[in-house]
Amino acid sequence: MVETRLIDGKAFAEGLRKRVASDVTAFHAATGVTPGLAVVLVGEDPASAVYVRNKGKQTVEAGMASIEHKLPATTTQAELLALIAALNAEKDVHGILVQLPLPGHIDAQAVLATIDPAKDVDGFHVVNAGRLAVGLDALVPCTPLGCVMLLKDRLGSLSGLEAVVVGRSNIVGKPLAQLLLREDCTVTIAHSRTRDLPEVCRRADILIGAVGRPEMIRGAWIKPGATVIDVGINRVDKPGGGTRLVGDVAFDEAQGIAGAITPVPGGVGPMTIACLLQNTLTAARRQLGA
Ligand code: GUN
Repeated sequence: MVETRLIDGKAFAEGLRKRVASDVTAFHAATGVTPGLAVVLVGEDPASAVYVRNKGKQTVEAGMASIEHKLPATTTQAELLALIAALNAEKDVHGILVQLPLPGHIDAQAVLATIDPAKDVDGFHVVNAGRLAVGLDALVPCTPLGCVMLLKDRLGSLSGLEAVVVGRSNIVGKPLAQLLLREDCTVTIAHSRTRDLPEVCRRADILIGAVGRPEMIRGAWIKPGATVIDVGINRVDKPGGGTRLVGDVAFDEAQGIAGAITPVPGGVGPMTIACLLQNTLTAARRQLGA
């Protein structure tokens, strides 16, 4: 039986936000420019509204400008594309983020394709996905970037380790696999059609849950001593009424088996916005050649 360590993403993210804020101060002193992040929210999704509010607050706390565009759910795709074209041309905007999901009548891929790749701080544009895949400098999706930071902080070098990523989304699973490959891991992407998923997971020195299914990954699927990163944030009903947040990994079952694990909440979640702030500064630096 191993003692399972908790990976404190909340504390790590706080430190990262402070480092970004001090880099923003130095950048401003050198260039006279304040990095600007434009966030576009279409519709009334309550979870998205919370994210956008937190992003705006933390952007300002890091010394950057937050430009918010809140549009009604009835916004047409043409109107949204016109706004993005204007933000692409706006020199005070260095990063553009379109909050997902978008209403059903809007083609998200068409919208993401319109964002200037140099301002694509989410790293969702095919140019950035392609640059990451071939090993060029890219703006990298924030949640996967946060996962790899936590892993390197905990493990040092990841070289030669077996990593299993459960989930193949464009936002997390696929870019995370690319980042782990860049760290010289042996990478498996598992998903809903994977045969004998428990056995595949038991190979992992690094096991990532990124499927969005509450507590799907059981304690018995974890190799003793493995480092477990739980990207899932699932709201489930409590027996006595009310709701609580759980990850994709059965956290209690992992105790005494995993070497270390991220909690939900307080693990990967806080890293996403911290990495977004870092990407915004990176984008501003590249646009100014600074
Ligand atoms: N919706 C949920 N997570 C994200 C994210 O990281 N970026 C964007 N744009 N939308 C999201």
